[in-house]
Amino acid sequence: MHNIQANYNLKELNTFGIEAFSKYFCSFDNTDQLKELLQLNNVRNEEKLILGGGSNLLFTKNFEGIVLKNDIPNIDLVSEDANEITLKVGAGVNWHEFVMYCVNNKYYGIENLSLIPGSVGAAPMQNIGAYGVEVKNVITLVEAIEITSGETTSFKNNECSFDYRSSIFKTTHKNQFVISYVHFKLSKQPDFNISYGAIASELEKMKVQELNIKDISQAVINIRSNKLPNPKEIGNAGSFFKNPVVKNDIVEAISKEFPEAPIYKVNDNESKLAAGWLIEQCGWKGKQIKNYGVHAKQALVLVNYGGATGKEIYDLSESILQSVKEKFDIELEREVNIY
Ligand code: EPU
Repeated sequence: MHNIQANYNLKELNTFGIEAFSKYFCSFDNTDQLKELLQLNNVRNEEKLILGGGSNLLFTKNFEGIVLKNDIPNIDLVSEDANEITLKVGAGVNWHEFVMYCVNNKYYGIENLSLIPGSVGAAPMQNIGAYGVEVKNVITLVEAIEITSGETTSFKNNECSFDYRSSIFKTTHKNQFVISYVHFKLSKQPDFNISYGAIASELEKMKVQELNIKDISQAVINIRSNKLPNPKEIGNAGSFFKNPVVKNDIVEAISKEFPEAPIYKVNDNESKLAAGWLIEQCGWKGKQIKNYGVHAKQALVLVNYGGATGKEIYDLSESILQSVKEKFDIELEREVNIY
């Protein structure tokens, strides 16, 4: 039986800690249960929101449909040889717990993605990334259920159109599939990526002599804990905006005026700029309005100190977009999904 609840408070289910109610709510922990749910008349006819860890969304109003919470568990072995291991992981598994499982078993490839909030099922959607690693590097297959037909499908890595914080699940196939399992191919041989400056300096601070997976994971945890607010303490959804990719003429104008501006070359015509830096230049860093604001240590993160509404945070993001547009003629794009 399905326990569909009405008028459900979503406050504990979004890391921003925004109070919003959904008309209906139900969780599922296996694909048969999900398929049955999708066939029910009152589920078919409602707008649906599939929720994982709730760490990349902002509710600006109540959700007038059904929220389906993905709790599919388990980490299962698919195949293994001396060099590699492939694991099939339930979409409802907490991302960081999966990373810790890999770190403890010395399965290399996702240690740089330690402490990212959210669930395994959400990872491919926005191709989560940090410290020089993106999850697309290790995903082989995404299993999903099509919402309208209830059929099981799977997408190979090259069918997911992975891009910077993007995939087909966020673009062409948005709201059409429920991700059920993700397959990851990890290396059993060390292959570290410490190209990101902050990791190297943290490892030095930690006095690490010989590179190993546990210390790299710990270095990432230290960096993140220092810069990013813990959603259990201060409501937030990580980076609120994407780092913008802009044309050379704008980049040149900025670097002429601000030689210290962080710039990452993407190709011959474009570079990526740090949205956090742009927002800080506009004077927003650490700004607090009533019980919400811009994080003091990372301007890319908007925070709810408790009791703010989603609309207030959305309006703040709108003001930030406008100032960056006015000062730099750059249009930032929100990374967080708005409901
Ligand atoms: N910076 C500032 N002021 C700020 C914030 C950043 O000047 O307020 C500068 C930093 O000094 C640095 C540069 O901007 O030179 C980049 O900052 P940082 O290394 O903190 O990374 P980011 O580009 O702001 C991205 C991801 C993060 C990820 C980090 C590390 C996006 C939208 N964000 O942030 O991902 O952890 O790189 O790889 O790409 C997330 O997506 O939720 C997230 C936290």
